Amino acid sequence: MRVTFLALLATVHAAGYKRAVADQQADVLQFENFGYLGRYNLVESLSNVDSDSCTCELSTSAVEFSGATSPLDGEVSVHFRGPLVLSKFAAYVSPNYVHGTNNGTWQRNAYYDSSSGTTNNVTFLTTAGANSSCLGKALTFADTDGVSAADLATVLADNTLIKSNDEYSIFSNITCGKSGFGNDCGVYRDGIPAYHGFYGATKMFLFEFQMPKESSASSDIANYNMPAIWLLNANIPRTAQYSMNANCSCWRSGCGEFDIFEVKNTTLANNLYATIHDYQGTGDIELGLQVPGYISRDYSATYKGGVTFDSDGNAIVFVSNSTTFDATIDGSDLNSWISGAGKEVTDLLSSVSLAPSSSKSSSKKSAGFSNNAQSFMTKLWVGAVGLVLCVL
Ligand SMILES: *[C@@H]1O[C@H](CO)[C@@H](O)[C@H](O)[C@H]1NC(C)=O
Ligand SMILES: *[C@@H]1O[C@H](CO)[C@@H](O)[C@H](O)[C@H]1NC(C)=O
Ligand SMILES: *[C@@H]1O[C@H](CO)[C@@H](O)[C@H](O)[C@H]1NC(C)=O
Ligand SMILES: *[C@@H]1O[C@H](CO)[C@@H](O)[C@H](O)[C@H]1NC(C)=O
Ligand SMILES: *[C@@H]1O[C@H](CO)[C@@H](O)[C@H](O)[C@H]1NC(C)=O
Ligand SMILES: *[C@@H]1O[C@H](CO)[C@@H](O)[C@H](O)[C@H]1NC(C)=O
Ligand SMILES: *[C@@H]1O[C@H](CO)[C@@H](O)[C@H](O)[C@H]1NC(C)=O
Repeated sequence: MRVTFLALLATVHAAGYKRAVADQQADVLQFENFGYLGRYNLVESLSNVDSDSCTCELSTSAVEFSGATSPLDGEVSVHFRGPLVLSKFAAYVSPNYVHGTNNGTWQRNAYYDSSSGTTNNVTFLTTAGANSSCLGKALTFADTDGVSAADLATVLADNTLIKSNDEYSIFSNITCGKSGFGNDCGVYRDGIPAYHGFYGATKMFLFEFQMPKESSASSDIANYNMPAIWLLNANIPRTAQYSMNANCSCWRSGCGEFDIFEVKNTTLANNLYATIHDYQGTGDIELGLQVPGYISRDYSATYKGGVTFDSDGNAIVFVSNSTTFDATIDGSDLNSWISGAGKEVTDLLSSVSLAPSSSKSSSKKSAGFSNNAQSFMTKLWVGAVGLVLCVL
């Protein structure tokens, strides 16, 4: 099914064609022309979330977006899955950085340093709250281990190692106003610690991290030895990151996910991929579009690097030992980290206007991040692809 899908896609999207050749090892994974004119649907209501009769409704009036980095130009939250140790994190914005030019100084507006326990504008959350048949588990503050619930915002213990399939996320420290359609954070799940994500069309996230081999979790668990770091439109986790009901978050309708460093399956546990999940040149949001290259995962390495989104539609994932986490970073320094990093693999995204929003046409898994497609979903995908091909 997937092969058929890719073959069809290759006729309309250059990246699909390129994926026919083997992925290459690289140090820099770049999307060009990232951002398009499209739309997505926000959640308008969540009802009876703690009962089996719970329901979710998307707004019928779509959010329209356009321009470089869209839809990731809105607020995003930052997500981590084990096995992983995060030793540094920083979020930056710049008024006008364009990759390869020297303008656009970066300003840091969030910072975490594990060794000193420093957090500036960082809130650690995890899904350790009540379960709901619609929404999955609720967000709570993360405790020092990253995965248990805490009553208050808490800093992770130094060098916290989370296991396979365990996750936490980072939001800013700015609390959301009241939940409600049209409010600052839109509709969110009752009772969660609701925080704003990180804003900015031209933004950057830097990380220092390790992705060691899983040493304690059972190999039976989901996502065994498959660490990842990724971004979500911050609306997604505030309603439902993992839900079987597509109406419970804006993910299915294409509000945005960007996988920065992701192991996609256990057979390729040493390959870190970069993938976009939206509708820019694909109808298959589950599969998304991946740069046809990977960064090698060395179990013993400490990586420094991150992702930068410039004002011209370049989204660049890189690893470089030159990376620093200073309060300001000169555009020319960032350019030299990237150009000095090593081999680069680039994927040119197709130009798309008003891609179809498929939010109303399916009830597929609406996970913010998912790997295990089930066969019934695959059938639905083919339907969705047919639709897209007709439109194109
Ligand atoms: C950024 O630098 C480039 C090359 O030096 C220049 O062409 C461009 O006008 C500059 N952009 C801004 C907004 O200053
Ligand atoms: C949020 O973080 C900033 C930067 O560290 C800090 O100045 C501010 O006091 C924090 N606000 C809250 C509500 O914790
Ligand atoms: C949450 O509830 C759903 C269905 O109500 C169930 O399928 C799922 O396994 C539960 N998740 C957890 C972590 O208990
Ligand atoms: C914290 O991050 C938020 C979201 O990006 C931003 O609006 C705010 O200005 C930041 N706070 C500081 C002190 O930089
Ligand atoms: C999602 O909403 C649409 C439109 O209201 C509705 O037709 C569909 O049944 C809903 N899906 C689920 C799984 O509730
Ligand atoms: C693992 O992921 C890679 C990269 O997406 C893909 O090429 C490969 O087919 C996948 N392998 C399996 C067994 O799913
Ligand atoms: C980066 O630094 C690490 C740790 O010092 C080292 O093992 C690795 O070889 C360096 N990578 C490169 C490309 O220089």
